[in-house]
Amino acid sequence: MNNGFTEAASSTEVKEGRGRAVMVNGQKIALFRHEGNVFALRDSCPHQGAPLSDGYVENGCAVCVYHEWRFHLKDGAFDHNELIKLPVYPIKEENGKIFVGTNE
Ligand code: FES
Repeated sequence: MNNGFTEAASSTEVKEGRGRAVMVNGQKIALFRHEGNVFALRDSCPHQGAPLSDGYVENGCAVCVYHEWRFHLKDGAFDHNELIKLPVYPIKEENGKIFVGTNE
């Protein structure tokens, strides 16, 4: 624990444009790297609950590979209806490690 942030992965584990599943304080979280920055969203697609971490990044969105629903990395909003939103989590990346803030 580091001011509300918990170490979740090493930087090398989260590749550009790809998803990566991590467990932080009992929560399933999908990490994605886009244009060098890491983003964290809840790892459960609101469509049918599939792991979003199996997906990839396209045009700033995480794409669920199961039926191609897309969620903006910055705020978790579904690209066809912003009332459907995935929780997003703050990220810190320091010294080759990725930390996720979950308020726990
Ligand atoms: S489960 Fe994600 S789009 Fe259907």
